[in-house]
Amino acid sequence: MNIFYNEQTNSFHLTNEKLSYQLSVENEVFLAHTYFGKRIENNHSESDYPLGNRLFSVNPSSVPGREFSVSTLPQEYPGNNNGDFRESAFEFRYQDGSFHTQLHYKGYEIFDGKPHLDGLPQTYVRSDKEAQTLKMILLDSLSGIEVHLFYTIFEQYAVITRSVQVINKGREAVSIEKVLSASIDFDRANFDSIQLSGGWAREREIERSPIFRGVHKTDSKRGTTSHAYQPFVALANSNTTEHTGEVYGFHFIYSGEFTANVEVNEYKQTRVQMGINPEHFQWTLDAGEVFQAPEVVMVYSDTGLNGMSQELHRLYQNQLIRGEHQFKERPVLINNWEGTYFDFTEEKIESIAEEASKLGFDLFVLDDGWFGKRNDDLSSLGDWFVNKEKLPNGLKTLAEKIRSKGMKFGLWFEPEMISEDSDLYREHPEWVLKAKNSLPSRGREQYMLDFNQRAVRQNIFEQMKKILDDVPIDYIKWDFNRNMSEIGSQHPDIRDGEVAHRYILGLYELLENLTRDYPHILFENCSGGGGRYDPGMLYYMPQTWASDNSDAVSRLEIQTGTSLVMPISSMGAHVSAVPNHQTGRLTSLKMRGDVAMSGNLGYELDLTTLTDREKAVVKEQIMFYKKFRSLIQFGTFHRIISPFDGANETSWIFVNENKSEALFYYYRILDKGNTGRPRVKLVGLDPIKKYRINDSEQQYFGNELMNKGIYVHAGPAKDEQNQGYHGDFRSLRLLLTEVD
Ligand code: GLA
Repeated sequence: MNIFYNEQTNSFHLTNEKLSYQLSVENEVFLAHTYFGKRIENNHSESDYPLGNRLFSVNPSSVPGREFSVSTLPQEYPGNNNGDFRESAFEFRYQDGSFHTQLHYKGYEIFDGKPHLDGLPQTYVRSDKEAQTLKMILLDSLSGIEVHLFYTIFEQYAVITRSVQVINKGREAVSIEKVLSASIDFDRANFDSIQLSGGWAREREIERSPIFRGVHKTDSKRGTTSHAYQPFVALANSNTTEHTGEVYGFHFIYSGEFTANVEVNEYKQTRVQMGINPEHFQWTLDAGEVFQAPEVVMVYSDTGLNGMSQELHRLYQNQLIRGEHQFKERPVLINNWEGTYFDFTEEKIESIAEEASKLGFDLFVLDDGWFGKRNDDLSSLGDWFVNKEKLPNGLKTLAEKIRSKGMKFGLWFEPEMISEDSDLYREHPEWVLKAKNSLPSRGREQYMLDFNQRAVRQNIFEQMKKILDDVPIDYIKWDFNRNMSEIGSQHPDIRDGEVAHRYILGLYELLENLTRDYPHILFENCSGGGGRYDPGMLYYMPQTWASDNSDAVSRLEIQTGTSLVMPISSMGAHVSAVPNHQTGRLTSLKMRGDVAMSGNLGYELDLTTLTDREKAVVKEQIMFYKKFRSLIQFGTFHRIISPFDGANETSWIFVNENKSEALFYYYRILDKGNTGRPRVKLVGLDPIKKYRINDSEQQYFGNELMNKGIYVHAGPAKDEQNQGYHGDFRSLRLLLTEVD
């Protein structure tokens, strides 16, 4: 890994074994992008972009002639209103309202390691040997605004991270209207774009389509990353598959309003940009002040989409997730939500816990409804003290009882919210987040707390602390059940244009303090399922409840889409009752188990209602999972057949580090009757290792399994009547072990 500067050509080359990234300074001051892709040797990194007199392009005053133009130059961080007619990366206004930004190269620094971004989630290094950083210093000479671009290259990953710092070295305050974290220009447009779109209960559907001229934007104006779009976009060659071909991925380590733009201009150049959404953003930067924009991860793969995902999984697992639980096997949990909803008593909870302890669960999670006077979703958010009517002996006694059964105890919170019917609201209506003089909309009958205000954050911290210091709590599910609207603050000193971002900074501060003070607690992130499942939250919470949709068939898509960017160890997946509460579907318990155990296995139903046969199946599933969970949670995950390819089937495989063990899953949704048996080619194995499948006598070479493949049959299901090969909602689980 190295960063080179070539004095003769005034150009830079960041490279490791896997990739190269090059930029150059053109005509003394214009920062150009010259290459991003597979590793190349270190020469010719100056721009050789063919210039030419193009009518209706404009030419900067400092460069004579008609050839050089920022209208066509592939750039690294374009300003605005300066002759580059594409989308800008940075804009500000002077106090008189005028706007014009021309960022010129001023200098650079190269250093080992990676600088810390204060108050933000970020990838990190443990030693300065793991990465190198290039800092490019740009200056808008008229205003004195300096923009520092940070590029970090890691030794081990096909990844470059970028972030941006703005420093007002001028004499007057300016208003930053837009400060993206990364912008990069490709000199071609023959790409497909890939995005992860969705909605509640349909998170992260993979959408792929050829790009075309104009600006295509996925974004959030909801105060949170949201169910609708992941802060992610990828550009792939049109022939790139799951296993072959080039793809560039861009992922934002941030949990608030973002924008991800892909622009194709008249010369079929493609500009990709990512950063805080400028829509609700306006930040006053006084003289001497600094603004830090969050980090973007740029990943390159020439081994298809799986290659991209695996690179992100490794990066996030090793350099983003933190704390005690980072590499620890994750617990099998039972959550009471779909089992009881709000309608539970102490006895009911204890009876589910009693059953759970017999079936081998590690952790009992008490969900919504334990606090204030909360018996439905109309009240009590903000009142984080126990509901004595439901739990007359208090939380501590309950937690201790559950722990005495050999399980850990977890608790649900929704700390960022306030119900109108709550003591907190009656005392502090001014703590509701809303624009001055606006009438705030309700979402799930609740308002958001204004985390811009220190007193609000402090109050919630104190309330949570009181419980955490009293009750033995091992796990917290941190929920967030509405989007932000009427964005602004009732506090007279807080500017509305800063609220959406300052809110996220406030949230991060609270999470930092809690995870610091309670390092043993495993935090699971949730927002009506996977509505805020982003790399920003992953920095604070190693797990996320991937979706409120627990139907096994829906989960094939949700978990496949999630796996595009998120490591398996982060993905909560539960077996729930049938008919499924979100889709009404009746799937086999075997398939529900096989789908849920492809993430962090949990169950979310009333265990006391299961038949003895079902209990035996659950017990076996948990036993099996515990034996192999380290392979599932921390092994290499490969998608084999994607449910988004229109097929009736899905398949994936988990392979351990030395490829001596693998777990293969195949799912068939509907039985079509009288079909042939599909042959599936496995992936990720060692070609010359020999494997045994389950406990069969037969042995296969890895290259046989990967090239010739195996015939799969998804049935019979052990828990149902023996229907042989036939039947809907079938799944097959094969364990491959190396034989000497
Ligand atoms: C959200 C979560 C659910 C559950 C409910 C409780 O919808 O996603 O898992 O915790 O809130 O109200």
